[in-house]
Amino acid sequence: MGDIIRYEVTEGVAVLSIDNPPVNALSAEVRLGLNSALDRAQADDSVSAIVLTAAGRTFPAGADIREFGKPPVEPHLPDVCNAIEASSKPVVAALHGMALGGGFELGLASHARIATAQSKVGLPEIGLGLLPGAGGTQRLPRLTDVSTALSVVLTGKPVPASVARERGLIDAISEGDLIADACALARDLAGKPPRPTRNRREQFSDGVGYQKAIEEARRVHADAPTMAAGRAIDCLEAAPLLPFDAGLALERDAFLELRDTPEAAALRHLFLAERLAAKPRSGLPAPTDLKRVAVLGGGLMGVGIAVACLARGKAVTIIEQNADTAAKTEARLRSVVERSVSRKKLPQSMLDGLSKHSIVTTQFGMVATAQLVIEAIAEDEALKKDVFAKLGAATSPKTILATNTSYLNVDMLAQASGRPGQVVGLHFFSPAEVMKLCEVVVGKETAPEVEATAFAFAKSIGKVPVRAGVCDGFIGNRVLTAYRTAADYLLEDGASPYDIDAAMRAYGFRLGPYQVLDLAGLDISWARRKRLATQRDPEARYVRIGDLLCEAGRFGRKAGAGYYRYNADSGKAERDREVLALIEKERVAKGITTQSYSAEIIQRRCLIAMANEGSKLLGEGIARSAGDIDVVMALGFGFPRHKGGPLKAAELSGLLSVQRDLEALAKEDAFWTPSQTLKHAAINGNRFDG
Ligand code: 3HC
Repeated sequence: MGDIIRYEVTEGVAVLSIDNPPVNALSAEVRLGLNSALDRAQADDSVSAIVLTAAGRTFPAGADIREFGKPPVEPHLPDVCNAIEASSKPVVAALHGMALGGGFELGLASHARIATAQSKVGLPEIGLGLLPGAGGTQRLPRLTDVSTALSVVLTGKPVPASVARERGLIDAISEGDLIADACALARDLAGKPPRPTRNRREQFSDGVGYQKAIEEARRVHADAPTMAAGRAIDCLEAAPLLPFDAGLALERDAFLELRDTPEAAALRHLFLAERLAAKPRSGLPAPTDLKRVAVLGGGLMGVGIAVACLARGKAVTIIEQNADTAAKTEARLRSVVERSVSRKKLPQSMLDGLSKHSIVTTQFGMVATAQLVIEAIAEDEALKKDVFAKLGAATSPKTILATNTSYLNVDMLAQASGRPGQVVGLHFFSPAEVMKLCEVVVGKETAPEVEATAFAFAKSIGKVPVRAGVCDGFIGNRVLTAYRTAADYLLEDGASPYDIDAAMRAYGFRLGPYQVLDLAGLDISWARRKRLATQRDPEARYVRIGDLLCEAGRFGRKAGAGYYRYNADSGKAERDREVLALIEKERVAKGITTQSYSAEIIQRRCLIAMANEGSKLLGEGIARSAGDIDVVMALGFGFPRHKGGPLKAAELSGLLSVQRDLEALAKEDAFWTPSQTLKHAAINGNRFDG
């Protein structure tokens, strides 16, 4: 047994403390250490009870996710849990921080559980395409009612200690010294034969009610994106029906089956990629902690950014053009804060003291009081250049000047400011108080300390920062454009917008590309196309259908018609023959011989287009890694998480095998991480031949 498990005996209680930073994940070494420590405590005559705890910020947050892609190593976690449960001396789990997954399962196998008031417990495996695989599905329903058990397993949401106590997930809350309280509880239990969770059946007294809840859960989760929910429900159903060990065996089989699915691999990839993306490049200087932020422009985006800052304790000044827009911004700010309070994302005190934390002003000079200014005005190049010139003059040389532009050239704005080293892009996604993604766009001259501080700032307001280089659309909008172009080609070649939307929904997107366009307003992308018209390659294929719809006044949902027609009474989207006729007319005008496309081909072509664009971004050095692109598309553009993002999905579905032949051409690149073969997809250009 190494230092990874500390063993200490105080007044007859052996305290076993897991010490595996940062989150005490239950690696093979921890499992081995725990087993030996348990054996030692059993054999130690001076010990009458055991407390299981952990050092650092949290009780184990689960099995070690990094081990999942590899062959399992003994002892397995279910065996460790069984050993805890079988201990002849009572074991008390002392929980703090986030006792999650396998960590909480150690607790469930213990003979009693005590937790700090701030801690949370939960079984989040579903978010990784898994089910609790160390007895959770069999022990949890023995400790709590079936609906709580179903909710904990199927939502994966951590449960605060107070609720956990009410529902029987834990036995006590410690308001003082957790270890002292856990030792006292252990001493109370010492001498009496421990009561193993496996022997409890009180929660199973109402068999009919239990089964009804199971059936209802099965109905609700019938269309779940992965198999995990269905398997978890099977295991929970089995808990009262099968002998305990048979239930455990069922759970283990299901866990191993799920662990090896592409969905679980995809979800695991995103979990790790999100954390990797949020790490700034190595070698950057220490960041500055930013407390005072000014937001230029109080539209929906500006206000969303302001609220995200307020939620994390920043002082915010919103700068508006005139008294009229300032009044509207103030009302908008209040309403977004109200909505956040009602969703429990902000405390009521924020609403009550809104004017203490934020100011809406028309005085541009107030930017001088901020450490960071985020420009969130209309997407107009001349306007933004002018604003950056003014910002350069009105702020101190240390102020960081950020733009929230979605497409415009950050280097150009940096030059306009006269202080290019201080300029960076912070590209938020709407609604910015909710969406977790923030592209940190690093310009040619952005200073290293500005890059480091921009990353730290985004993290400090709860966002996942992803580094992007300067290009039209950065990472996300570049890939989105490729996706839409692929969809437009299919549209012109024979698929209807409704077929394409249905295919992409079936793939896992919540909305298809034409539903999204209708929702955003077709005029927005039309304006951009018109702006870029002169730069378009006249030889390149151009699909005019979106333009024709706009010319007919069909701007999408807000106009009552776009790719769909919106029922005047119900607002429901309906298919529209006029749209199909317009598309058909265009096909005839272009002399296109139409083809029919299966959902599978539609999905495949859209995926190839996204993956190819992703590989170009890697080749150009705009994105640091394939994982970064996947994170952007999953967090910002609704790419289905269980597919892992476009590059992981392309890799998992074998679409990239063609490119593997080109591997020999690879040039080594320090930024290159997973999905290395994608690099070569760029060589093929934007091919849509699915
Ligand atoms: N395994 C391996 N590493 C883990 C991990 C895990 N289960 N959980 C977190 N980490 C790592 C992260 O990758 C990160 O590493 P890094 O510093 O090298 O980037 C580090 O721990 C800190 O994690 P976060 O950045 O996420 O820190 P936060 O404070 O924001 O969040 C947390 C902490 C709430 C514990 C969050 O990390 C989390 O939700 N972890 C995963 C929980 C989970 O899904 N557990 C179930 C695992 S599956 C399981 O237990 C199967 C069992 O039933 C058999």
